[in-house]
Amino acid sequence: MAAAEPDSPLYLGLDFSTQQLKAVAVDGDLGPVHQDSVQFDSELPEFRTQGGVHIHPDGLTVTSPVLMWVKALDLLLDRMKAAGFGFSRVRALSGSGQQHGAVFWRTGAARTLTQLDPGQNLHQQLTDSFSVQDSPVWMDSSTGPQCDALQEAAGGAMRLADITGSRAYERFTGNQISKVRQTRPDQFQDTERISLVSSFGASLFLGRYAAIDYSDGSGMNLLDIRDRMWSQLCLDATAANLERLLGEPCPSTAVLGPVSSFLQHRYGFSGSCSVVAFTGDNPASLAGMCLHQGDIAVSLGTSDTLFLSLSEPRPSLEGHVFCSPVEPDGFMALLCFKNGSLTRERVRDRCCSGSWDVFSQALDRTPLGNHGNIGFYFDTMEITPPAVGLHRFDANDRQVSSWSPELEVRALVEGQFLSRRLHAERLGYSIGSGTRVLATGGASANRQILQVLSDVFNAPVYTIDLSDSACLGSAYRALHGLVADSGVSFLDQLRNAPEPQQVCRPHRSAPQVYDLMLRRFAELEQKVLEKSRI
Ligand SMILES: Nc1ncnc2c1ncn2[C@@H]1O[C@H](COP(=O)(O)OP(=O)(O)OP(=O)(O)O)[C@@H](O)[C@H]1O
Ligand SMILES: [Mg+2]
Repeated sequence: MAAAEPDSPLYLGLDFSTQQLKAVAVDGDLGPVHQDSVQFDSELPEFRTQGGVHIHPDGLTVTSPVLMWVKALDLLLDRMKAAGFGFSRVRALSGSGQQHGAVFWRTGAARTLTQLDPGQNLHQQLTDSFSVQDSPVWMDSSTGPQCDALQEAAGGAMRLADITGSRAYERFTGNQISKVRQTRPDQFQDTERISLVSSFGASLFLGRYAAIDYSDGSGMNLLDIRDRMWSQLCLDATAANLERLLGEPCPSTAVLGPVSSFLQHRYGFSGSCSVVAFTGDNPASLAGMCLHQGDIAVSLGTSDTLFLSLSEPRPSLEGHVFCSPVEPDGFMALLCFKNGSLTRERVRDRCCSGSWDVFSQALDRTPLGNHGNIGFYFDTMEITPPAVGLHRFDANDRQVSSWSPELEVRALVEGQFLSRRLHAERLGYSIGSGTRVLATGGASANRQILQVLSDVFNAPVYTIDLSDSACLGSAYRALHGLVADSGVSFLDQLRNAPEPQQVCRPHRSAPQVYDLMLRRFAELEQKVLEKSRI
């Protein structure tokens, strides 16, 4: 990390992600000068989460305790203070949150937020501030009936996608709000504000409710992504007077105000430190990787996501279009795959004695194309495509029940990336000679996994130094937020950011192997989908 002048300005980025809360600070030269994180499962064991969440007995409902996120922020800031972090030098901060998650603030919470006592931590003071203690998160798939109702009200799935950028998805916040309204009417009645995880994080820094930004707001099935306003049709179909509970949405580059007096007094933030709107972790990642037109980003976090910049929205029944987090009139496309790192961990534990090294060796020791074996690994109901279960096929497309550990590891990773490529191409993405694949997220630390990614996509893979681009992107967005109003573009402001480094090049034989395999994969996926429907 770069040494910084003692009084030079800093820009702070936070990321409220599925499994941890992370922070990174960069200086004016965009070099990271401080990094920290709090792991929910191991450092806040009293909340008894696994992978940061609670999976309910129905197997569909997935939530996280909202107070865990509050307590994690106390812990993170206390730890940074103890390490001598220069809070007073922070000129601006921003952040990101796992997308789609909803926070329900209890009536009276706005007042509590403005009256926080610097002598006590946030967790003590906000204990009674939430009407729903268990926030629904992106892994939830329990709102099928609410999705059907919304699509019917909108005039069909495609019509809803045209308005909001996506057909109805179970995890999208509007459908989660409908479910809470229907199944917990008392708690819903006692709610004065609904935030996304991102705007909830911003509210903790502002000391008042923060607006939902256009980009993360696009993951709710409620925002008209072209007009950048709530869609009245979708609001009405979700809950009465919902606009009041959500507040006005804002541009993702908006400066929301100064950091709260609570944080100034408790940690020594300056009164002139600006809070820039928080956004979703995927939009923030796009900022952190300084994605250019033509690049495709692959985030290998708890979920795997693929995203790219778009100038024109072309919503379809698969994937999502969001407002861009960095360009005032731009858009981004995104695909989400639920069975990402946690599935890789399960196979690592079963086939590789829990060791990533053994997992990586298995990839090194097996050939491209895995002798024609193709696997689908959907431990839980997948989002893209909506299928479930484990399905293994040999070179003759015959279903088999098991493979050697090494074949299993390669089948898993190849299957995951074939699926990522197939669905990206269906979204209109074409992999050409100049294509850069930018990898981020926890698993992007694994070079062998990235080699398979490079081979399957037949494109070079690049990474940035920090595996958490959402956090870094938040620090960059904080810096850009200060000048965005004067018309300076994000990429211009960030032109001195460290360039992503190439880490893998595709093997010469890769196109021959995977172009063919992709066609078989598409046919087999169709079979698997039909089986999942039975
Ligand atoms: N060497 C490695 N090889 C493969 N995977 C790894 C390695 N190190 C970490 N991971 C994976 O990284 C995952 C965590 O990634 P990350 O920190 O990006 O998740 P997150 O930000 O909490 O999730 P999300 O962005 O989906 O909300 C772990 O679940 C782990 O499986
Ligand atoms: Mg993440």
